[in-house]
Amino acid sequence: MALVETRDQAAPRLLAHALHSQIAMHQAYGGVVPELASRDHIRRVLPLTAQVMREAGHVLADIDVVAYTRGPGLAGALLVGAGVACALGAALGKPVLGVHHLEGHLLSPFLSADPPEFPFVALLVSGGHTQLMRVDGVGQYQLLGETIDDAAGEAFDKSAKLMGLGYPGGPALAKLAEQGDPAAFKLPRPLLHSGDLDFSFAGLKTAVLTQSQRLRQVSDEEFEARKADLAASTQAAIVDVLVKKSLAALETTGLKRLVVAGGVGANKALRAQLNAACANPRRRGGVVRVHYPELHLCTDNGAMIALAAAMRLQSGQQRALPAASFEVKPR
Ligand code: KG4
Ligand code: ZN
Repeated sequence: MALVETRDQAAPRLLAHALHSQIAMHQAYGGVVPELASRDHIRRVLPLTAQVMREAGHVLADIDVVAYTRGPGLAGALLVGAGVACALGAALGKPVLGVHHLEGHLLSPFLSADPPEFPFVALLVSGGHTQLMRVDGVGQYQLLGETIDDAAGEAFDKSAKLMGLGYPGGPALAKLAEQGDPAAFKLPRPLLHSGDLDFSFAGLKTAVLTQSQRLRQVSDEEFEARKADLAASTQAAIVDVLVKKSLAALETTGLKRLVVAGGVGANKALRAQLNAACANPRRRGGVVRVHYPELHLCTDNGAMIALAAAMRLQSGQQRALPAASFEVKPR
């Protein structure tokens, strides 16, 4: 939940932001339980709204437009957001605007202290998506490549699960990887030399499963002793592909800016390797500026949705409409 202010053509400003994480609730089940997620959305949405208004020093009547995530995402959770947004809009007599979840991620670095300038290449890496885009302005997005099977976040999560690291897998695997040797296991880097900008991570998960089984066959102690190495090698395989394909996208487009967004954008190894590669003056294409969202705005949040709505309205490409019927797009 967030409140964003726009004045004329000045960059939108984040006035207040609140987030209730459902991680602890889902942890007991080893993953997201959709029904619990929707119920918790219902429980939290109004208190969070009140908290944000209080922190910003505003009242509901000050709101000009209400934005919500239209999709993709879990249908039940999306319906709670859309329903409450439209109810607020109707009650206040203010228009509403549905926002694409990924556009929120894509534009989230504009809330950082060092915002990017258009045009740029964007690497979008979340639990459900892995995409490279050419971004020329708000709403001007060209898909350059994407995953043909699992997303990068999914590769982190599924590998973590195979290694018994629990939920959420990505951060847990990244933490364990800090103590391991990334070169210990030879894991596949599918499509690395495919010549296009597509990704594939399903094979990696199978390789991690095979390696885990081999270690466990030796003994449980062997598995425990080598787990950090396996985590580090898995992370290295994912990061390697993401970095190489991002560099290829920069070369193909000739652009000098890279934006990284989505949950996996919080990964330290990914950031370190992208920063090193992009700062290298000897790289073909020269030095590239890399922009990230602030760390706490990498994973799903309301600030990026309010921001995307504000930027869309500012660009004049879209109008908010009176709150009447609404639909969500889970896929
Ligand atoms: O963008 P996001 O919050 O939700 C989706 O839209 O999917 O991304 C969540 C994904 C999960 O797969 C999670 O494991 C991954 O981002 N993630 C990470 C890290 N933090 C979150 N993966 C690797 N390293 C991290 N530090
Ligand atoms: Zn997301």
